[in-house]
Amino acid sequence: MKTTANFMALSCVFFMAYLSLSVRAQKNMPVPVLGKNTIKEVIAAMTLEEKTQLVVGATELKKASTNEQGTTIGFTEQRVPGAAGIMAAIPRLGIPALVLSDGPAGVRINPRRKNDPNSYYATAFPVGLSLASTWDPVLVEEVGLAFGNEVKEYGIDILLAPGMNIHRNPLNGRNFEYYSEDPVVSGKIAGAIVRGIQANGVGTSVKHFAGNNQEANRNGVNVVVSERTLRELYLKGFRIAISESDPWTVMSSYNKLNGVFTAESFDLLTTILRDEWGYKGFVMTDWGGGRNRPGIIRAGNDLIMPGRPGQSDLIAAAVKSDSLDIQALDKSVERILNVILKSPTFKKYKYSDKPDLAAHAAVARIAGADGMVLLKNNQQTLPFSPSVKNIALFGNASYRTIAGGTGSGDVNRAYTIAVIKGLANASYQPNQDLWKDYRRFFSKDSTQQMAAGAKYPKSPPEMIASDSLINIRAKDSDLALITIGRNSGEVYDRDLETNYKLLPSEIAQIKNVAAQFHKNGKKLVIVLNIAGVIDMKEWSNDADAILLAWQPGQEAGNAITDVLSGKVNPSGKLTTTFPVNYSDVPSAKNFPGTPIAKPLRVNYEEGIYIGYRYYDTFHVPTAYEFGYGLSYTNFIVKDLKLVKPNVNGDFTVSCKIKNTGKKAGKQVLQLYLSAPTSAIDKPSQELLSFKKTKLLNPGEEESITFQIKGKELASFSSDLSEWVADEGKYTVKVGFSSKDIQQASSFILKKSIHTEKVHRVLQPNVKIEELKPIVNKP
Ligand code: BGC
Repeated sequence: MKTTANFMALSCVFFMAYLSLSVRAQKNMPVPVLGKNTIKEVIAAMTLEEKTQLVVGATELKKASTNEQGTTIGFTEQRVPGAAGIMAAIPRLGIPALVLSDGPAGVRINPRRKNDPNSYYATAFPVGLSLASTWDPVLVEEVGLAFGNEVKEYGIDILLAPGMNIHRNPLNGRNFEYYSEDPVVSGKIAGAIVRGIQANGVGTSVKHFAGNNQEANRNGVNVVVSERTLRELYLKGFRIAISESDPWTVMSSYNKLNGVFTAESFDLLTTILRDEWGYKGFVMTDWGGGRNRPGIIRAGNDLIMPGRPGQSDLIAAAVKSDSLDIQALDKSVERILNVILKSPTFKKYKYSDKPDLAAHAAVARIAGADGMVLLKNNQQTLPFSPSVKNIALFGNASYRTIAGGTGSGDVNRAYTIAVIKGLANASYQPNQDLWKDYRRFFSKDSTQQMAAGAKYPKSPPEMIASDSLINIRAKDSDLALITIGRNSGEVYDRDLETNYKLLPSEIAQIKNVAAQFHKNGKKLVIVLNIAGVIDMKEWSNDADAILLAWQPGQEAGNAITDVLSGKVNPSGKLTTTFPVNYSDVPSAKNFPGTPIAKPLRVNYEEGIYIGYRYYDTFHVPTAYEFGYGLSYTNFIVKDLKLVKPNVNGDFTVSCKIKNTGKKAGKQVLQLYLSAPTSAIDKPSQELLSFKKTKLLNPGEEESITFQIKGKELASFSSDLSEWVADEGKYTVKVGFSSKDIQQASSFILKKSIHTEKVHRVLQPNVKIEELKPIVNKP
């Protein structure tokens, strides 16, 4: 029955399109044009071939093809060399080709072009993890404004960013691109950067939707996760970002989710994203994501990227054979055309290819410094005292500082300021003899690699200074600074032994430097120039101060010096927990899945208990907790007021925060909630919201108000397919970290509130036993 009806509908569509073409041709009627005619009229005038070309990227089309009507489809010349992809154009209907480019830390295009003396460098902003560590959506939006200007001025329509997958496990090779172990932080930071970028009139693609929490076999692994965990953790951040910023596009991920590739998941891309969340933009695949091309369109995934020859034909064949409803294709075309209408290319924006890189570098420097987290500061080692001038810099990364990670998250920047340069720029005196030793070491290593046949020498191994060398420097320098560098990127997760942990030789060097400098009454500062959480237990005691700089972008050395010198008072906070041992990580025994060499399946057995949700509930000590970060000044919270919930559960919390120290500084006020466990088990606390203060002078106060909606109290009941705020006692706590709670207040919800009913979809295709707390204290 259905097939016959579909067949009739299809024949009707073809007939109408044919009729419209031939009537127009006979009467010499003008062809509808995008922008002048309605989208519906344009779609009605499109042939099946044109529709299927539009939903497949034209990146890999070698030359423009001509269709039956003699119109050109697809622009194949590289408009912006180095951009990740281009869409098809249909000039006959006034549809131009949009250009899509990576990535999350800056525009990723080729810096040089053939026969062109100009350069096309882009600003390397701090990586996502560093931006998130600012806990400052206002600042992140400003970064987005500068960033989006480069997108626009380099002729790009859609930026393939932000990346916002959850830090389920510290070894994920792309955690540097992502924001946090917590969906509220992820969602709010992603929302802020999207707002900033899109304010320029260009688009973004929030990625990778969803469950792409590892790189190991990312194209084939099946993520098995309960509905509750999926909704509360892995989807929630996307929902917040979408509702706060309305990104033009969303990018589906590579992995399968409960048995189905996300790229082909109707439940994910239509039922949840469109029907439940009301998302109106278009969805694209990740590059080469998904398998079944018509299935991708059927799911509500509108654009297949990068697009390969033959893929359009597969979709056309599916429509002709009635296995793909033409209406699904039309909807995809409509969603794409809606975005094209807003694009700079459609508006014929005359881009300059000359963004103000100097102004944007200044923004990158400010954000880089604000994303740094001061982990340790014994006896006010930092900021440097005025007596510190001659600094002995150890660690390769002091000289070759890492701006950002590798892969599509990398940026072709004009320069990276190394720590040595940043210190020199601020008139410190990095020890020149030590610099010579490192230079000699780097050049010897690269000569050896080239002699062994390497075309491009890899990063050298860590230089380990000899005892005698350290001894001399401990005498002639005022302070030792060791920069620990770690990088990572797409395709691979980080190696536990060599990337997550420091090498035994690096640890020995730290201990040696600490011993020799301490013996001479001098201090050791460690700067962490890293892409994700690392093991710190064996050596953190040796340092007097530890500054977590992450990968702060191209202004790295200047931004690091700003904090070390006290020009900037550190105000960054951890968005991801540093555990004591890797084996403490709740997902450790299920990462990256089985079989370990090329995991086909990964069971999220830890359920909702990841990050602080786990460590706090199960009383597992951490090295540095979620939300943690020191300042050069002190703050207190006072006058906490809770206006109890109305019938919908909405309530208000307000308080004052005061700088009681001697230096101006900013603080992040974090609002946590402990919920009752009457029907659903709960973590001991969850972050509800956060606010960063302005720069408060000594003695200055700021009033902060949080307005919380009842639905933010709710947990997801897989049994009911509902979000429910259980009846019982709720405690709201405000503090400076998940452990440093300053004030708290409680209220009772007399009756549970069912805040939202949703579809029962995306159930696990394999039964998994989720971790549950035995005793769960409210
Ligand atoms: C990455 C995406 C990126 C795309 C285009 C893929 O391999 O996963 O994040 O946007 O390539 O470069």
